[in-house]
Amino acid sequence: MPTILLTGATGYIASHTWLSLLSSGFEVLGVDDFSNSSPLVLDRLRELCGTRPVFERLDVTDRVAMHALFARHRIDAVVHFAAFKAVGDSTARPLAYYRNNVGGLLSVCDVMQANGCKRIVFSSSATVYGDPPSLPIREDSPLAATNPYGQTKLMGETMLRDLGAADAAWQTGCLRYFNPVGAHESGRIGEDPRGTPNNLMPFVAQVAVGRRPHLSVFGRDWPTIDGTGVRDYIHVCDLADGHVAALRRLLDTAGCFTVNLGTGQGNSVLEVVNAYARASGREVPVQFAPRRPGDIAACYADPLLAQQLLCWRAKHDLARMCADSWRWQSLNPEGFQ
Ligand code: UFG
Repeated sequence: MPTILLTGATGYIASHTWLSLLSSGFEVLGVDDFSNSSPLVLDRLRELCGTRPVFERLDVTDRVAMHALFARHRIDAVVHFAAFKAVGDSTARPLAYYRNNVGGLLSVCDVMQANGCKRIVFSSSATVYGDPPSLPIREDSPLAATNPYGQTKLMGETMLRDLGAADAAWQTGCLRYFNPVGAHESGRIGEDPRGTPNNLMPFVAQVAVGRRPHLSVFGRDWPTIDGTGVRDYIHVCDLADGHVAALRRLLDTAGCFTVNLGTGQGNSVLEVVNAYARASGREVPVQFAPRRPGDIAACYADPLLAQQLLCWRAKHDLARMCADSWRWQSLNPEGFQ
């Protein structure tokens, strides 16, 4: 079976993808520098898959280490997850984002090219659509990054598009994630944000488990069903399976593609809060607060292209996302320890 290199392998989405790849029969080699994840993820993966994960600690911007890695392993394709991902942080530390996200991808592609490995799946984001003119969002919707994080994702996509145009041997898949949530059904791996969570579901989870007193709901006057922001939440295990489908396509079919990975379904903040309260049996107190700068009213995918190109579609509903998030949160109230 092909060997897949995962960068940023101990992160939230990557660790779930690691399990999906192993259960689909792929060999996996993971690398991470643990700048935003815990080494304990490796113990949990070992427990879940019954074998020791093949892993090396390294920073993808370290080209010497990356060349040495390629010299030691036969690598058939790369899934490049390693990146910083907090929108607010990116506006405060833009250079760190350009260095890590753009510089990291450049380093990975340079080393791949030098070693004759030309298949890559890239973690992009629905953030590349900015404030979309119409919904649901198709892949040909206008692109407009509104912060440095979004810019780094757009630049990454552009780099891969240009690479595919220059050399038909390159096969690239850009996956525009909508809002990944939930956790593996075992409750052994999940999202473990450092400090105060930026994103809705991990914040709600910490309120439900008693780590925080209430959720601040950012805005109740958006033009949506109940005045709160609407997003396309997708179960992280569905997203992980989307990566397996993307790799299968790259291994089978020449060319490059860019697809949305979403459910096509939008849910408001209050719908998420209510679903979480039902799944957990806990109260989730809310306080209404002003709109968060840079937020948009609604964002949800047209998932048709991924269905057509990858034969993939999301299977899990919001109730399941909340139930799995809650299992992870309640079994690991302080995250990986
Ligand atoms: N929200 C709250 N309170 C909170 C956190 C979030 O009300 O404490 C609201 C937001 O205002 C928004 C919704 O919950 O309406 C979702 O917010 P998230 O921060 O969870 O997600 P975003 O859609 O804003 O952003 C996420 C990622 C980005 C990514 C984008 C892609 O954080 O990295 O999805 O669409 F680019």
